[in-house]
Amino acid sequence: MRTILHGDFLWSKGPEELTTQTGYLVANDGVIEDLYPVLPEKYAGHPVTEHKGAIVPAFCDLHVHASQYVERGLGMDLLLSDWLNEYTFPQEARFADPAYAEPIYDAFIDDLILHGTFAVSAFATIHRGATSYLIRRMEEKGLYGYIGKVNMNCGAPDYLTETTAESLRETEQFLEEFSGNRTAKPILTPRFAPTCTEELMRGLGLLAARYGVGLQTHLVESRWEASAALEGYPDCACDTEIYERAGLMDHGPVIGAHFIFPSAKDIEILKRHNGVAVHCPDATVNIIAGIMETGTLQDRGVAVALGSDIGGGHNIGVCSQAARAVQLSKLKHFYEPENNRQIGFANAFHLLTRGGGQVFGKLGAFEPGYILNALVLDGLHDPGIVRTPAEIAERFCYIGTPANITARYLSGKRI
Ligand code: GUN
Ligand code: FE
Repeated sequence: MRTILHGDFLWSKGPEELTTQTGYLVANDGVIEDLYPVLPEKYAGHPVTEHKGAIVPAFCDLHVHASQYVERGLGMDLLLSDWLNEYTFPQEARFADPAYAEPIYDAFIDDLILHGTFAVSAFATIHRGATSYLIRRMEEKGLYGYIGKVNMNCGAPDYLTETTAESLRETEQFLEEFSGNRTAKPILTPRFAPTCTEELMRGLGLLAARYGVGLQTHLVESRWEASAALEGYPDCACDTEIYERAGLMDHGPVIGAHFIFPSAKDIEILKRHNGVAVHCPDATVNIIAGIMETGTLQDRGVAVALGSDIGGGHNIGVCSQAARAVQLSKLKHFYEPENNRQIGFANAFHLLTRGGGQVFGKLGAFEPGYILNALVLDGLHDPGIVRTPAEIAERFCYIGTPANITARYLSGKRI
């Protein structure tokens, strides 16, 4: 299958570098061949789809709780520990029932596509049945993802706690069933250190090695979490060391949500394993009360991406988090200039596309070898003023709606 698109393409070449090129993008079976200023002779007569507006890479949400889709915009008046106990744990427990879970996962997937998010790193719940449904549906749709059955064997109510043996057995079955997936792949998902014993972490580490899978979790997300994490791990100097010692950071992508209060050692360990720190600005404001040192972490060599963190965050469109990342970065710089280099929109757009896309392989750019996952953004002009592709993308992240996405391409196919 060959796809040829013509228009203005905008993508990120690096954290500070947005580029725009007008031309013909040629993709074969969903993989970009090249972006040509003039259509090569050999493609003369081949159908070309012309697009107005800005053509941008589809978005990547590196931290989202699919099971909390129905919580978005509700119960936002508490901080993390109380929020989990009062709202989230009781709601997640209902995923034991497939009749409750499946329509929610279907709605979650539809809404991701509507908002232009084609790659996610997603938490489900502890329930293998419902989690299998989610990963199967994502794979059928051809969405890119790492999907995790959550592990929890302590620190939570009985109704949402597994035994260690059960947690490991169910996780292994999940890995066995879905390790051969093409685009939506399994990932290990110990919820966070306060809900996993060392024995469970070590067991998961063995599964990581056996199945060649990575890790998603919450890392140094709040002051409470950073200290609660170490209560069960007195030999560890920091949150991130818990996962390193368990052997969970060596066999696939390492995705650590929040990373708001990292020590020098957390940073050193995350970098050693090529991990990604996921900035979730809305969740930060809603339930966490700390702001990631985005620019400063990048300066220290940490890879950063963006996450919606539904339902700690409330916007399913992760594009909104690019705008919020710029806002929070300015706020943090204003109050703590020594702690944070401010980031601009080019950087935030990088986090939203290429920065997150790199954990899935070649996603998030319009360069040879990359997967053609693209959105056409339009309808954001002012009367009498023609906006540049960079202006369209920026405005879209602040005030765009799904109606401003006039076409969607997933693996080269218009959907
Ligand atoms: N830490 C442990 N569980 C959660 C969760 O569900 N959401 C967020 N934001 N942080 C967590
Ligand atoms: Fe989260």
